[in-house]
Amino acid sequence: MKPTVVILAAGLGTRMKSGLAKALHPLAGKPLVRHVLDTVASLDPEKIVVVVGHQAEAVSAAAAGPGIQTAIQSEQLGTGHAVLQARTAIEAASGPVLILCADTPLIMPDTLRSLLSIHEKKRAAITLLTASVQDPFGYGRIVRTGAMVMRVVEEKDATAAQKKIREVNAGVYCVDGKFLLSALASVGNKNAQGEYYLPDAVAAARKLRHTTAALIAPDPLEVLGVNTRYDLSLAEGVLRQRTNRRWMLAGVTMPEPDRVFIGTDVVLGTDTTLYPGVRIEGATSVGQGCDIYPGTRITDSVIGSTVTIKDHCVIEQSTVADGASVGPFAHLRPGSDIGIRARIGNFVEIKKSIIGEGSKVNHLSYIGDATVGKGVNIGAGVITCNYDGFEKHRTEIGDDVFVGSDAQLVAPVRIGAGALIAAGATITRDVPPDALGVSRAPQEIREGFAARRRKMKQKIDGKPK
Ligand code: UD1
Ligand code: CA
Repeated sequence: MKPTVVILAAGLGTRMKSGLAKALHPLAGKPLVRHVLDTVASLDPEKIVVVVGHQAEAVSAAAAGPGIQTAIQSEQLGTGHAVLQARTAIEAASGPVLILCADTPLIMPDTLRSLLSIHEKKRAAITLLTASVQDPFGYGRIVRTGAMVMRVVEEKDATAAQKKIREVNAGVYCVDGKFLLSALASVGNKNAQGEYYLPDAVAAARKLRHTTAALIAPDPLEVLGVNTRYDLSLAEGVLRQRTNRRWMLAGVTMPEPDRVFIGTDVVLGTDTTLYPGVRIEGATSVGQGCDIYPGTRITDSVIGSTVTIKDHCVIEQSTVADGASVGPFAHLRPGSDIGIRARIGNFVEIKKSIIGEGSKVNHLSYIGDATVGKGVNIGAGVITCNYDGFEKHRTEIGDDVFVGSDAQLVAPVRIGAGALIAAGATITRDVPPDALGVSRAPQEIREGFAARRRKMKQKIDGKPK
C-alpha cells in the first residue's frame, strides 16, 4: 500500500546559529529539505505533507513540487505537536504513514522500503529506523526489553546509564495513522525540553501492548541528523563521496575526489578528468574526454567533448563546443557560445556572445554582445565597447577577420568578412569586407631625442644641492 509521507521542517534549527531556517541551508547544491523529498519521491507515495513553521513561506517554496502539500505549525512545541499539524492527511491515509525529519538527508530509498515492509510484516503500530553508532551524543536512545523497543529517551532526559546506549533513533518512523493520532493525544510535555516528543508514541504503543518494531540501518552514516554546521559538513562529505564514486565507476577520472564537487543534476562523459578544486553545478553536462583543471566552476552549462578548461575559470549558462579550449583565468558569463575548436585564453571575459568555429580570443579581452564568425583572430586587449551608458549594443564580426591588439570596437558596429583592424584602432563606423580599418595619429620620429633626455637628467642629478 502506498505510504502517506509527513516531513517535519518547522524548526529554526537553533544549533545552526543562523538567521536562515535549517531546512533551507544548502547541502550538495540544494536546500536541505529537498534531499528527503527527493528520496521519498522514489517510493511513489500517496501524498507528501511538509510541516513548516519558521520561515514558512521560503521553506514551502523550497519544498514545492507535484503532489507536495504543506501544513503550518505556528508554534514549535515539539516533533509530536508538529506531526499533528498533518492530521487531515493522516486521517485520510489508506496505507502506512511514513514520518521523516527534514534534517536527515542521507537516508536511502532502499532503507525506507525495508522499513515499510518490516512494519507491514510485523503488523506493528510503530516501526522505527535506528542505528548503532560510535558516538550517540544528541540522539534519542533506544530502550529495549529483549528485542522489543520499549521507548526512546532523549539525550537531555537520559540517565547516565541510558546515555551509554549506542543504538539511536534516526527520527524516521512508519506508523499506523489512527494509532498515532490517538497516541499523540496522550503524550505530554513534562520533559527536559518542555516539548511534545514524537518518539513518546513508542512508549504509548507499549502501554497499549501494541507491537513496536525497529530496523537497524545497514550503514549508520545514513541516519546522520544535521543539527550543527559541523554535521552539515559531514553530510556534504558523505554525499560527495557517493556522487563522485558513482561517476568514477562510470568512467570519469578524479585524482583527488575529495576536492571535486559534482551537483546531483550534472551529467559527465567517459574519459573526462576533473582535477582538484573543480565545482560543476546546476544543470551542466560535460562530454567525453574533457580535461577540467584546478579551481574551475561551471554552472548550468553545456560543455562538448574533448574540451580543455584550464585552471581557474568561471563558466555560467554558456555552451562550449567540441575541441574548444578555455582559460586559464577566463570568465564565460551567461549566454556565451564558444564554437568548435575555438580558443579563449587568459584573462578573457565573454558575455552573451557567439564565438565561431576555430576563432581565437587569446589574451586580456572583453567580448560582450557580439557575434564573431569563423576563423577570426582577436588580438590581445581587444574590447567590444557594448555599453554607451544607457543601452547595450551589438558588435558583428564576419569570418576570417583579424582584429589587431588593443583595438576598441564601439558598438553598434559591423566588421565585414576578411577585414583587417589595425592594432590600437578605435572603430566607430562599419568596416566593409576585406577592408582595413585604422584610426591612429601619424607616427613621428625625433632623431636623438632619447639620448638628449638622458644627458639632461645626468646634469640635473650631478648638480650639488
Ligand atoms: C529528534 C528526535 C531524536 C532523534 C533525532 C534524530 C524528538 C523529540 N527527538 O531529535 O530522538 O534521535 O531527531 O535526528 O523527536 N521540528 C518541527 N517542529 C517542532 C520541532 C521540530 O517541525 O516543533 C522538526 C525540525 O525542523 C527537524 C525535526 O523536526 O527537522 C527534528 O527536530 P530536532 O529539533 O532536530 O530534533 P532532534 O533534537 O535532532
Ligand atoms: Ca535533528
